[in-house]
Amino acid sequence: MPDDLSHAAADDAAPSTSVGPLRAVGAEMRRLVLEDRAGVRLEVSAWAPDLVRVVVAPASRPPATVGWALARPESQWDAGFPVRLEERRDGWVLVTPSLTVRVARASGAVSIEAAGHPGPIAEDVPDRPVAMDGRLRLRKRLPTGALCLGLGEKTGWLDRRGRVLEMWNTDVLPHMPDTDPLYQSIPFLVVYRQGRAWGLFLHNTHRSSFDLGATDPECLEIAVDGGVLDYFVMAGPTLEDVVHRYTELTGTMPMPPRWAVGFHQSRWGYEREQDVRALAHELRRRRIPCDAIYLDIDYMDGYRVFTWDAERFPDPSRLAADLAEQGLRIVTIVDPGVKIDPDYPVYREGLEQGLFVRKPDGRPFEGAVWPGPTVWPDFNQVAVRRWWGRWHRVLLDAGVAGIWNDMNEPASFRHPLPTGTLDLDAVHGPDEERPPEERRAMRHAEAHNVYGLLMGQATYHALLELRPGIRPFVLTRAGFAGIQRYAAVWTGDNSSWWEHLAMMGPQLLNLGLSGVAFVGADVGGFTGHVTGELLTRWTQAAAFTPFFRNHSAKNTRPQEVWRFGEEMEAICREFIVWRYRLLPYLYTLFWEAASRGTPIMRPLFWHHPGDEAAERVQDEWLLGPHLLVAPVTRPGERQRLVYLPDGEWVHLWQPVRLQGPAHAPVEAPLDQIPVFVRAGVPLPLGPEALHTGELTRDGRVSLGVAAPSSTALARGDVGGWTWLYEDDGESLAYREGDFARRRIETAWSLAGGRLSLCAELGPREGRYVPRRAWLEWVVDRVDRGRPAAVRWQGEPVEPSGEAWTPVPEQRADAAQALAGPWAKRPAWWWDASRSRLVVRVPEPTGPARLDVEWA
Ligand code: GLC
Repeated sequence: MPDDLSHAAADDAAPSTSVGPLRAVGAEMRRLVLEDRAGVRLEVSAWAPDLVRVVVAPASRPPATVGWALARPESQWDAGFPVRLEERRDGWVLVTPSLTVRVARASGAVSIEAAGHPGPIAEDVPDRPVAMDGRLRLRKRLPTGALCLGLGEKTGWLDRRGRVLEMWNTDVLPHMPDTDPLYQSIPFLVVYRQGRAWGLFLHNTHRSSFDLGATDPECLEIAVDGGVLDYFVMAGPTLEDVVHRYTELTGTMPMPPRWAVGFHQSRWGYEREQDVRALAHELRRRRIPCDAIYLDIDYMDGYRVFTWDAERFPDPSRLAADLAEQGLRIVTIVDPGVKIDPDYPVYREGLEQGLFVRKPDGRPFEGAVWPGPTVWPDFNQVAVRRWWGRWHRVLLDAGVAGIWNDMNEPASFRHPLPTGTLDLDAVHGPDEERPPEERRAMRHAEAHNVYGLLMGQATYHALLELRPGIRPFVLTRAGFAGIQRYAAVWTGDNSSWWEHLAMMGPQLLNLGLSGVAFVGADVGGFTGHVTGELLTRWTQAAAFTPFFRNHSAKNTRPQEVWRFGEEMEAICREFIVWRYRLLPYLYTLFWEAASRGTPIMRPLFWHHPGDEAAERVQDEWLLGPHLLVAPVTRPGERQRLVYLPDGEWVHLWQPVRLQGPAHAPVEAPLDQIPVFVRAGVPLPLGPEALHTGELTRDGRVSLGVAAPSSTALARGDVGGWTWLYEDDGESLAYREGDFARRRIETAWSLAGGRLSLCAELGPREGRYVPRRAWLEWVVDRVDRGRPAAVRWQGEPVEPSGEAWTPVPEQRADAAQALAGPWAKRPAWWWDASRSRLVVRVPEPTGPARLDVEWA
């Protein structure tokens, strides 16, 4: 049956080149529909008080964007807010409690004002804001000083202003500092200026581009190759508001299994079972914490997806079981290209049932990837997604824990760059899962950018179905807006260059601002030969990024952390150990990402809006609210300049405390990078573990606090708070309330020369009961010596004569020593040699309070 692609053929030659004058053709509660004489429709609708959608649709274009990116259709938004619509002589006004949208009658120019903010926040240029010249273009004002953030996975620095960025998923190796586009397309722009943010999500899957003041320094021009101009504006005012709204629209990440937050080891080059066993042996012999080993394309039989090479991997189930005993899981790569081979069931089935992307004449579209000649599953059809999903049984039955999707831009070797992909007229869909108005076949031009997203969806749902009740782990290279709902993202084929280490920070930060919190780069670099120093610096930095995986290409120098001598190995090991110590904090950040879309890695100005110096910092980030990470990204560098925003900051390993805002040179010997914690705030830490499986045993947690200095206290009260979120780490029960969450707050004060700390625990919410019987506070760097009084729940606590090793210095696999007074009642211990107070209290269920006073 020929596909109905009539609309697609008419994508060019619009009858008029601009919009207007307009007349109203419909107005409902929260929607304004306007039209001009040429049939161009302009629609404005309010989805939330601070979220509006604008659609500009020439008559010749297909009516609706297929909403694969959206997690919630309009009907699922709370409509319980007032909207006022008014027609005036020069146009229309739509008013919500948070913003006012004006549409000019003559030109269709849209201007958005936010309540309490002088002048518009987002404003079309007044003259011909929309142009139709083959591409459909929209121009908005870009005020001087505004940063252009987000836009997904791009090369370069944090602020993308001055560049033209394309949305077209592309497999490109190697990529340079200005290479564009890469593997992901997330057309979500965050504009930030003087502490105020707004966002624009272009809801269009065709190739599009964002000219961020490159052609005209004061103008943002968005151009789309097909479809309609369909975009959402989120008004802010904070970065958090903008990203939160965006992830309400496109979804948040699900809670990952806890093992996925550990360290992972990968290489394209573990060719046989013996290589994998030897790797596991080395990891454990050298006591390198690790949770997962990746199998690249060599495990397959002739690169046929969903097969095992019988000679090189004769018994995958046994392998998986043996690794599981060492606390290691297997993640296998799955590429979309299906080998053309009549004897191969995946190919045969797909062919018989018509499940592959087809040429306009209806025959399967052919290209080439690793297996040679290939065809591609048509993920735009729900039937194909389900069929593909079922094939994962081959891997899961063997004990595979997670799936790694690659080459899903999709990449084709037969079609060299600049396309490197399927022909634009290849045919996909329709998707029977979509609402009727979105059910249509489409050209690759429209389907290309969502190919990775839909493959991710198929994979995620397959894992959910094949292993009910267990959280899936999917990693992907390609994606579109919304990819966070299904997969973690790694930034593809970087190189073992210092430049790419430097780029990792800005790249991951912008992905986080684009709604994708679970992100990482190949640690050590994929192509090229890494040096020991580069690998060490990379491991140090990446230990503080959400997804932490060492991966490299075939025929490059092996880059496991022990390949460069004992010194480098010991340093890398120490940072991987720190990664595991930080898990209680990090896992809580994942929960924040899962519940509110909050990025795990944040630019400094996320927590310090209006700090102009922070806006210029490209080479640091905040991991959650309390840790500041300043990686070393140049060879030979043993000191670096660090910018510290407002507040007192304490170096995690050096006896250094600094008062921000300030730039300060900080020592960075090879075995350290500057990492600072905010003085006085609680930081949940755990013990040293070889893998996350060891942690479930007793869930021991230490609440670390670096005491503030008297100088900082003299400037005002110090303190802060954090959540501590815990659950079983693997099931979906957390969705039904089986989690434990509590707020932990510290307040420090200096009154009459006496220093005091009040640490409050909120009630434990949720049904999950952590297994630990005790909770520990570790107050470090106390310059006042031994405390005069410690009270728990208002009752005096006795000092203990016995020393106690604080949790972060314990090993998770060692049973906790519960002898001595510790076992019976709350107690504290002053470690004079380290100026450290350790207080141990029974794990409370309800609210609880610790008071410490120093003379
Ligand atoms: C692609 C991936 C890379 C992988 C290789 C072989 O280049 O990006 O990570 O190792 O293919 O599968």
